[in-house]
Amino acid sequence: MSRIAILGGTGAQGLGLALRFAAAGEAVVIGSRVAERALEAAARVRAAVRNATVEGCENVAAAALADRVVLTLPVEGIVPFLADGAAQLAGKIVIDAMVPLTVRKRVAELEPVVGAPSVSELVQMRVPSARVVCAFKNVPSDELQDLAHPVPGDVLLCGDDELARCEVARLVELIAGLRAVDAGPLRLARYIEGLTALLVSLNLRHKTLTSIEIVGLERTRRAGAA
Ligand SMILES: NC(=O)c1ccc[n+]([C@@H]2O[C@H](COP(=O)([O-])OP(=O)(O)OC[C@H]3O[C@@H](n4cnc5c(N)ncnc54)[C@H](OP(=O)(O)O)[C@@H]3O)[C@@H](O)[C@H]2O)c1
Repeated sequence: MSRIAILGGTGAQGLGLALRFAAAGEAVVIGSRVAERALEAAARVRAAVRNATVEGCENVAAAALADRVVLTLPVEGIVPFLADGAAQLAGKIVIDAMVPLTVRKRVAELEPVVGAPSVSELVQMRVPSARVVCAFKNVPSDELQDLAHPVPGDVLLCGDDELARCEVARLVELIAGLRAVDAGPLRLARYIEGLTALLVSLNLRHKTLTSIEIVGLERTRRAGAA
């Protein structure tokens, strides 16, 4: 069976994506450092989504079961995970949703990533055969978890494998409300991560939940058709 694994899927962002993918009919495996926590999260998804196909297990085992793997770990968890789990990402579509953020005096800023300009590029460097796509970095977990409403905004995505970007765009658009915007190569991930720092800072300043919507793409399509 084709499955999507969500590593760190017991957290806010991972659980939100698990709920949305399960609601769209995808088979989901929730990963955790502790198998019992993954099973509890899987039970939460089953309680919220009728007929959900969802399992839970330890992160490395979850990645092994899936052909597409979503990374929703805190950034400090990715290098330790790769020490054991890199082989389970090899050759697979790896959807990186991690953002290296820190908040100081109610302003969110990017933390430098050691060894790469972005977390997505770090994962790509550590697992060269992985088909890494940066996505979902600008989508708030509260919106993902609220199944009663569509998720507002666009998902900017980038990666160096065009077919992988197409598959991730398809997955994005399974989620009610979201539109996929293909930004191109993985080296743009640093700017997508930076946008999250801006959005979180806006959220803190204005006590709200912001997201991204790109205007003007329709004009490109019209020009291309002419
Ligand atoms: N929250 C959002 O709105 C949002 C939006 C966009 C992007 N993101 C990104 O998505 C990722 C997850 O965010 P989150 O808010 O869901 O975070 P989180 O709740 O702090 O972490 C997610 C899960 O990761 C596991 N974890 C915690 N510390 C770990 C470590 N040191 N090593 C390995 N695993 C660890 C925990 O699961 P177990 O204890 O079960 O292993 C936790 O439930 C982050 O990189 C964040 O930047 C979040």
